[in-house]
Amino acid sequence: MTLAEVDTPALLVELPTMDANIARLSSYLAMHAPDIRLRPHAKTHKSPDIARRQLAAGAIGICCQTVGEVAVMAAAGIADILLSNQIASSGKAQRLAAAAAAGSRVSACVDNPAQVKLLSEAAQARGVTLHVLVELDVGGGRCGVNTGEAAVALAAIVAESPGLSFDGLQAYHGRAQHMRSPADRKAAIASACGLAEAAVRVITQAGLPCRSVTGAGTGTFAVEAASGVYTELQCGSYVFMDADYARNEQDESVETPVFEQSLTILTTVISTPAPGRAVCDAGLKAMSLDSGPPSLARHAGVDFAGASDEHCKLNLHPGIALASGDRLHLIPGHCDPTVAMHDWILAHDGRVVTDVWPVARGW
Ligand SMILES: Cc1ncc(COP(=O)(O)O)c(C=O)c1O
Repeated sequence: MTLAEVDTPALLVELPTMDANIARLSSYLAMHAPDIRLRPHAKTHKSPDIARRQLAAGAIGICCQTVGEVAVMAAAGIADILLSNQIASSGKAQRLAAAAAAGSRVSACVDNPAQVKLLSEAAQARGVTLHVLVELDVGGGRCGVNTGEAAVALAAIVAESPGLSFDGLQAYHGRAQHMRSPADRKAAIASACGLAEAAVRVITQAGLPCRSVTGAGTGTFAVEAASGVYTELQCGSYVFMDADYARNEQDESVETPVFEQSLTILTTVISTPAPGRAVCDAGLKAMSLDSGPPSLARHAGVDFAGASDEHCKLNLHPGIALASGDRLHLIPGHCDPTVAMHDWILAHDGRVVTDVWPVARGW
């Protein structure tokens, strides 16, 4: 199928661009931080096909954010999976243990003893080992214990729990990823590193080996990689990028990989009801607006002017005309939730669809 034959709205990924992003991060790490492991976040793409390309480029495993994603990735044969999140039910713990019983190395995060108990019971019932990381809140203000002392107390509970292996810390600073100024991102991660390092110290002093400190995303990974504290990076968005990440300013004096937009929503003009206005068939059910509007960087003189369920409105600058049937590429504001709205990712080379990958939403 050529791109011209693809019905819309459709989620597309330009494969050479995506593969170049994957290669760029791997070669950056090989050159600048060869001891740092890369565990890309699969919540970005929800695609075992893309996960396999990341693994082929040197990633040691993947992260998932939901137990459904873990189940899908384990069923697809992904060997090493971290649930970078907490669970709060025996059903979810059992599904993690089932993924481990099926052959994957499965890890999960905890920030309270009740989660440890659920994981331990499920691991024992299945006769498997689940690997556990204590999550430390390093400034993101989401999950995580707040002090090194709380981390060591929870790590001790994990270490004593049958069926579990204590692996270390998750120290992900989500808020820092989208701070616009590189100086702000650097300062936020410097603070995260201080907190993580102090927690590692007290955990180690308590006689518990802290083998892994995992975190980081596309906005800050170079800082964590150079920190001497983190052992593993969880970048997700770098495969696709999005309009929001494009708003991050870069420090031109530092050599970091530049990732390019590979993900677009292909949409068709269905109406041109008034001069200067066009209406397309991609709306709120085709793209997420939580991080701002899509970019029309590929179409000069066209501005996004709003969306409803199945429509988006475009304002056209003087001299720009669009006709019913014209097709445009929208660069989503936020890649992860946009992908989760679609059943398929169509991989293309700019002209022809070369692969059709299911979006494995899990449940
Ligand atoms: C725990 C965790 N790690 C890593 C990431 C990846 O971040 P990014 O997509 O910005 O690279 C996320 C994204 O929200 C996350 O929640």
